[in-house]
Amino acid sequence: MNLFVANWKMNLGGRKSLQLAEELIDSLPEPLPGEVVLCPPATALFMVGEKLKGTPLQLGCQNIYHEEKGAYTGEISPSFVKEAGALYVMVGHSERRHYFQEGGQLLARKIKVALQWGLQPILCVGENLEERETNRAWPRVKEQITEALVGFEEGELKDLVVAYEPVWAIGTGHSAQPADVQEMVYFIREELVNLRGLRILYGGSVKGDNIKDFMELPDIEGVLVGGASLDAREFSRIVNWEKN
Ligand code: PGA
Repeated sequence: MNLFVANWKMNLGGRKSLQLAEELIDSLPEPLPGEVVLCPPATALFMVGEKLKGTPLQLGCQNIYHEEKGAYTGEISPSFVKEAGALYVMVGHSERRHYFQEGGQLLARKIKVALQWGLQPILCVGENLEERETNRAWPRVKEQITEALVGFEEGELKDLVVAYEPVWAIGTGHSAQPADVQEMVYFIREELVNLRGLRILYGGSVKGDNIKDFMELPDIEGVLVGGASLDAREFSRIVNWEKN
């Protein structure tokens, strides 16, 4: 099933998150043409989770810590995320890799703990502009995926989702070329992960005007949306892409 993930990043507090969740509940098409996951900031997670109960929308978290509890000031326990009603968690978003130096083994641990708590990990990967321009996009993505999935048995990863998000396309208004996305995503599916039923998303400046280009790619089963998910009308257009 197609997956539409709204990553609100650090843009909305509790009240505004709740308001946007309400607007989306009212404006999204019924029945939903796929799974829709809202990822508010952690402080709004519980409230938005309560609001989504009884609706077909799902809750996701933007990040988790790899331990369940203890003296980890400021961190987000997977058990709290689960308690808030989340089904998904993003792991290794490029902003976490860049600003918080996340990568490698740490992400494997996050994926492990997410799966232990019944949270479906959305592993984000993608090359930066320099890597793209110097033909190092493929080895970079390969490295990110192999590091994050090291030590897992195939059966453990049945709930894994991978989001391919070229860093240079995130928040810039310049989405990647669909043909390049297809090539990379095919490489991820066939060469790197090779799991039956794996869902791969595209992310990076997705909006109502370009969603079709990505959803029509043979190996893409959804999108991870930042900026355009902050506007209920625009995000509804994205979810409803087949009718637009
Ligand atoms: P964007 O963000 O849609 O604003 O480019 C995507 C993301 O960071 O996941």
